[in-house]
Amino acid sequence: MITVSKDKTFALTNKYFSYVFRVSPEGILEHLHYGGPLRDPLNVAVHHLRTQREVASNFQGGPYFSLSDTPQEFPSFGTSDYRFPALHGRNSDGNTVFSLHYKKYQIVKEKPRLKKLPSARGGDSETLIVTLEDPLHKLEVELYYTVYEHYGVLVRSAKFKNKGNKELQLQHAYSSALDLPPHEYEILHLHGTWSREFCEERIDVPKGRFIVDSARGTSSAAHSPFIAIVQKGTTEEYGRVHATTLMYSGNFSLSVEKGEFEDVRLLAGINPFNFHWRLKPGKKFCTPEALHVYADKGLRSMSHIWHEFVREKVSPERFRHKPRPTYLNTWEAAYFDVDEEKVLHLADKAKEIGVDMLVLDDGWFEGRRDDTSSLGDWTADKERFPSGIPALAAKVKAKGLKFGIWFEPEMVNPKSQLFEDHPDWILHVPGRKPSLGRNQLTLDLSRPEVIDYLYAQIDDILSCGDIDYVKWDMNRNMTEVGSAGQSKNRQREVSHRYMLGLYDLLRRLTKKYPDVLFENCASGGNRFDLGMLSYMAQNWTSDMCDPIGRLDIINGCSYLFPLDVTAAYIGPSPNHQNGRVSSIKTRFNAGAFCAARGISLNEEDIDEHKSELQSLIMFAKDTSEDFVGGRFDRLIKSKNEVCWQYTSRDEQTVYLAYFHILAAPNLPFRRARMVGLEANADYMLVEDGATYAGDALMQNGMPLPYVATGQVNEKVRYMTKGDFSSHLFVFKKDNN
Ligand code: DGJ
Repeated sequence: MITVSKDKTFALTNKYFSYVFRVSPEGILEHLHYGGPLRDPLNVAVHHLRTQREVASNFQGGPYFSLSDTPQEFPSFGTSDYRFPALHGRNSDGNTVFSLHYKKYQIVKEKPRLKKLPSARGGDSETLIVTLEDPLHKLEVELYYTVYEHYGVLVRSAKFKNKGNKELQLQHAYSSALDLPPHEYEILHLHGTWSREFCEERIDVPKGRFIVDSARGTSSAAHSPFIAIVQKGTTEEYGRVHATTLMYSGNFSLSVEKGEFEDVRLLAGINPFNFHWRLKPGKKFCTPEALHVYADKGLRSMSHIWHEFVREKVSPERFRHKPRPTYLNTWEAAYFDVDEEKVLHLADKAKEIGVDMLVLDDGWFEGRRDDTSSLGDWTADKERFPSGIPALAAKVKAKGLKFGIWFEPEMVNPKSQLFEDHPDWILHVPGRKPSLGRNQLTLDLSRPEVIDYLYAQIDDILSCGDIDYVKWDMNRNMTEVGSAGQSKNRQREVSHRYMLGLYDLLRRLTKKYPDVLFENCASGGNRFDLGMLSYMAQNWTSDMCDPIGRLDIINGCSYLFPLDVTAAYIGPSPNHQNGRVSSIKTRFNAGAFCAARGISLNEEDIDEHKSELQSLIMFAKDTSEDFVGGRFDRLIKSKNEVCWQYTSRDEQTVYLAYFHILAAPNLPFRRARMVGLEANADYMLVEDGATYAGDALMQNGMPLPYVATGQVNEKVRYMTKGDFSSHLFVFKKDNN
C-alpha cells in the first residue's frame, strides 16, 4: 500500500485511490496526485513546471520556484506562499515565519492511536509518518497518513513537537492540507440550525476563501464538519469527488481557497480563529484526525465509502452490526411532566405495542420541573421519583423492557446545588456576566475536578446495572469561553482543552460501561460528528420529527453518515416544531431506514393508533437486523419527491421508500431506477407477490405509486390521497 522511491517520492495506493507526494529538490513536501489508483504511482509527472512567473517571489533564492504555485503537503506562511497556511504561529524570535523541510520517514503497520483524541481504528492498514523540521526554531512536525487495504478513506493528522529550549506558539495547527490542481469545481457542504440540520448547499468554488467552521464550542448544526469538492456537474452517479471530515467535536475549520493560479487548497483542522496554543520546550501537540475520501462515481460512491468506514472503523465496535432496540422516549409524550407512576404507565403502554425499551428523557432529577433549574444535580427528584432511578429501572426491566435515561452532564443551571457549591466551575471570564443559553451555563470541562465530579455522578446511577442506554444531551453553544483553571496566557486553549476533558470523560464511562448504548444528542444534531460518534453508537439527528421536515435532514446526513448510527421516532401530530399534520405511516416511513426506531407519543395517541403502532413496531423489530450494516442509496431528491433505497447486509431484502410531499392533479408517472441489485436475480414484492427482474428494476425502474386526486382505478397502485403521502416497498430476493 505504501511505496517509497529512492529519491523520496511517497505513494499510498489501494483499490480506491493513489495519494502521491515527493520531497522536492528544495526539501519541501510537494503534493503530486490524489485521485484514482495508479498502476505506477511513483511515476507521476511533476506538474509544477518551475517557470518564472511575473511578480512571484522565489522561495529562499531558488530560481523559478515559488511556493505560491507549488502544491504542498503542509504549507506554512512567510516564505513565498501567500495562501492560508496549515502551520502558522509565533516562534521564539517573535515573528511568524516557519519553514518546514523534510527530515525523515517511517512506515508502521499498526495505526498509532491519538492518546487524548478519538481516532479511527487501524487494521489492514499502513501508516506513513513523515517528519518535517524547522531547524531554526527547532519545531518538528510529524505528518501521519494511514491507508487501508479495504477502505477508501485516507486518515491524516499532524503532531507538533517543540525540540528547542524556548516556547513556541501555535495558531494554525491544521490536521491536513490538500492542494488540488486547477479545475472547475463545486463545493457541497451541509449547513443548518436547530431542527433544520444537514441542509445541503452547492456552490461553485469561488475565487478567494470559503470556510465552513465553528466557533461555538461544538461542531454545530450551523455547519457540519464536512465538505466535498466535486467536479462541476457531479450527480449521485457521475463525477469526481474529494470529500473531507474531521474526527473532532469542537471548533473546527474547513477552508477552501482558490488561489491566484486557480489551484484549490483545502485545510482541515481546529479552527485557528480564537485558538492559540503555547508549546513549551519538550512538549507535543496532536491535531485531530482529518479523513479524506476520493470517489470517482459521484456522490453515491462517496457515501458508500464513508458509510462503510464510519461503521467499521469509527463507531464503537461493540455495537457494530448490532440491531438497535425499538423505544418509547418520554420527551414529546410528557416533556418535564414525568413521575414514577407516569413512567411505569408509559412502560405498560410501550409493552402493549411491542416496544423494547423505555427511555426516561429530561425532567427526572432533583427540582427539574422545567428548563430553568437543576442541571448539575444528578440525583432523582425525591417527590416524583421517591424510590430513585435504580429502583425505577428495575421495575421497568421487570416488565420485560430495557431502560434508558437522559443526562445533560456538561451543563449547570444557576439554580442548582452544584452551581451554589462551585460557581467557578463554569466557563467564564473575569468581570463579565456569563450569557445564558436555555437558562444554563456550560461547565468547565477543561478542569479535571469537573470531569471527576461528572464521572462520579453518572457512575453512581449507571452502577445499578439496570441501565441499558444513555441519551447524552448538550443544549447550548458556548460563550465567555475562559477558565479559572488556566493561567491568563492559556485562555485561548480552553475550547480545545474542554474537548480533551469531554473525550476523557466519555472514554472513562464507555470503558466502564461497554454494554450501555450511548446516544449522542445536542439539541438534536448540534454536535453530530465523528468525534462523538467514536464513543457513541447512536445519534439523535434532529428534534424535527415532522416527517417532511426530517426528509431533508436524513438526506443531508446520509452524505457522510450511515443510517446505522441514527435514531428516529414517531412523534405527535400536529408536529410540535412546525405544526404539520401527517399520518402515522409517513411519520414512520421517514425514519424507517434509521437503525433505531421508536415513538414519543402520549397515552391517548398510543391508544388511538394502537393497532397501527403495533404493526409498525413489529415491522421495526422484524427488520432490525437489516438496518445495521446494509447499503443506503439516495435515488430521487427533488422539491416534491424523495426516494431512498436500503439493501440489507445479506442483500436478501431491498427496501424502497417513496415520499410525495404536495399532492397535485395529473402528475407524471414516476419510476425509481434501483441500484446495486443482482441483474440476473428476481425480486419479489412482498405486498402483492409480484416478481421483478433485477436488471429491469435497475434499468427500467420500479413504477412508483400514483398520487390519487380524482377517481381511482383498482389496478393502479396509489399513494394515500392528499399531501405528505409515502409508500414503503419491501422486496425479497428470489434465490431459486
Ligand atoms: C434536546 C433534545 O434534542 C430533545 O430530544 C430532548 O432530549 C430535550 N433536549 C430535553 O431537554
